[in-house]
Formats: sequence, C-alpha cells, structure tokens
Amino acid sequence: MIPADVVFVPETAAHDAEIDHLNEEAFGPGRFARAAYKIREGGPHERRLSFVALHEGEVIASCRLTRIAAGEGRALLLGPLAVRPAHKNLGIGKKLVAISVEAARQAGAGAVLLVGDEPYYGPLGFRRISRGQISMPRPVDLDRILVHELTPAAAERLKGEVCHADLARIPAWTDDREPIRKAG
Ligand SMILES: CC(C)(COP(=O)(O)OP(=O)(O)OC[C@H]1O[C@@H](n2cnc3c(N)ncnc32)[C@H](O)[C@@H]1OP(=O)(O)O)[C@@H](O)C(=O)NCCC(=O)NCCS
Repeated sequence: MIPADVVFVPETAAHDAEIDHLNEEAFGPGRFARAAYKIREGGPHERRLSFVALHEGEVIASCRLTRIAAGEGRALLLGPLAVRPAHKNLGIGKKLVAISVEAARQAGAGAVLLVGDEPYYGPLGFRRISRGQISMPRPVDLDRILVHELTPAAAERLKGEVCHADLARIPAWTDDREPIRKAG
C-alpha cells in the first residue's frame, strides 16, 4: 500500500537533477543505448503530463510522457518509469502509470505507447501492438512494445518508425496533438 506521506505531483524543472539521478540508478549507463531514449532525444518531454512521487520533499519515483509520431499516428511515449529501491513494491510505479495515462486522456491524446514488460503493464490497460506495425530507431524486442488506446483506432494509425513528434515528416491528419500543446 502506498504510504500516506507519498504525494504525486506534476514534474517541474526543479525535479530534473533528482530525476536524472533516479534514472541513472534504475537503468545505468545502458539507458543511453535504448530505443526509447533515442526517440526522446528528438525533442522535449511533456512536463505537465509527467509526474513524480515525493517523500519528505525528495523525488522517489518518476514517469515521463513524450509526444511521438509514427506515420500519420500520434501518441505519447511513456517512460522512463523508475522508483527508488527503498520504495519499490508499494504500488508507486503503477500509480504513476495510472496518473500519467489519465493525464494523457485528459489532454486529448489518442494512445500511450511504451517499451516494457507486459505482465507489469497489462493490468494497467496496455497490450502488445501488432508485430511489424511499428519499428523503433534502435533494435527492440517487438513483444515489449505495448500500447494503451485512449480513442478508437488511434493505435492502428501508428505505422512505421516511431520518432519524436517534433521530427514527424507527415503532418497529423487529425490535429490530435493540439490539445496536448494547450495542456502544456
Ligand atoms: C519496474 C518498477 C518501475 C516497478 O515499480 P514499483 O513501484 O516497485 O511497482 P509497483 O509497486 O507498482 O508494483 C509491484 C508489483 O509489480 C511487479 N513487478 C515489478 N516489476 C515487474 C516486471 N518487470 N514485470 C512484471 N511484474 C513486475 C512486482 O513483482 C510486484 O508484484 P506484486 O504486486 O504481485 O507483489 C521499479 O521496480 C523500477 O524502477 N525498476 C527499475 C526500472 C525499470 O525497470 N523500469 C520499468 C521500465 S519498463
């Protein structure tokens, strides 16, 4: 159970250094080689759709969302998600995912995508995306690409290589990123 003194708040620039430390601790130097990292390098994440868990004023967990594109499809990429070791298995990771997905929905996003373990994310509404439908700029286990659809058919619009939405060559056929910009 999540302790009552853990609070969940939108991320601000003041959390950046602690989030960097948290991600270094959770993923090590290998994080820079990950496919999702490469995509996130393409532009900023959505600060107001990204959340931290605080305990006694310290960041103990973080979850970020970044606007992405794949063909004409638009979505938010969830991650990195990391929880400090001393605070694991209390439900904080799942709560952060749930908060982020709800924020994405409120912002008008069609889908949330991530690279992660289906046994963890499946109960939170994520399912495997069809093999071959999308690819990543670096090798990735295709069975770990999961999607949570928020509006009908948003997932099937994602096609081809995923990139940061700021680098998309094809304009979105529907302006589904506009509400997110307004929210940010
Ligand atoms: C994965 C991580 C975010 C989970 O955070 P957390 O706050 O400890 O997780 P929660 O408390 O919400 O959930 C714990 C449950 O998920 C399970 N779980 C944790 N990681 C899992 C995984 N990779 N696959 C399946 N189940 C997992 C735990 O065994 C536990 O199960 P239980 O409730 O049956 O006991 C955290 O362990 C972490 O930061 N790991 C290092 C970074 C990482 O791997 N991030 C995810 C990248 S996709």
